Amino acid sequence: MGTDKESRINYSDRFSDIKPIIIRRCTQQDLEAVIEVNEKELPEDYPYFFYKSILDNFPEAFLVATDKDNKVIGYVMWRVEQIPSMDSLRYVNKGHLVSIAVSQEYRRRGIGTTLLSNSISAVKKHKITELVLEVRVSNYIAIKLYEKFNFTMKSVKNNYYRDGENAYYMVQNAVTN
Ligand code: ACO
Ligand code: ZN
Repeated sequence: MGTDKESRINYSDRFSDIKPIIIRRCTQQDLEAVIEVNEKELPEDYPYFFYKSILDNFPEAFLVATDKDNKVIGYVMWRVEQIPSMDSLRYVNKGHLVSIAVSQEYRRRGIGTTLLSNSISAVKKHKITELVLEVRVSNYIAIKLYEKFNFTMKSVKNNYYRDGENAYYMVQNAVTN
């Protein structure tokens, strides 16, 4: 689905009274606004160069959602990691969900779902064997979202977050979806 550079997905909302939300690829001009959403919605913050390197390396799976004023109200970003295959004879690609967030006032309208489904299609163009992510064990809502995409809990990473909370390591085997 339209993750090419200039393609825009008109996210047609279930609520016809609000103006269309657009899902499109992130550009360098969007990064400050992406960081703003991240800092407001998630305790895990990253320096600018981190976002920039994700954008430079995996632009097709770095998407933003914008409102009628072209203001960024959500984002998703992935990176692709090379890991040794089971037989260790070659490398295979693993898609790692780095971060996703939607501004509080825009939640529960399917924007997170649309960001995730479009970015998953994009990241899977890298011949991915599996998709992985970490999520706070208390983050019931995000876990629900990932389960909708057939992610399953594979293990617990103890003390994963700076505040000591554990993470679920969730995996979607690319063949299943
Ligand atoms: N209660 C229960 N389930 C919920 C709720 C809620 N209040 N909100 C969303 N969900 C679940 C439901 O399963 C929902 O599917 P459904 O509507 O078919 O029932 C599903 O999530 C997706 O809902 P969307 O409307 O598509 O998602 P939304 O746009 O609200 O964004 C997100 C979801 C990104 C998790 C948002 O809640 C958010 O930004 N949270 C704060 C940031 C965050 O926790 N990000 C994930 C961190 S982990 C990581 O980034 C790897
Ligand atoms: Zn991670």
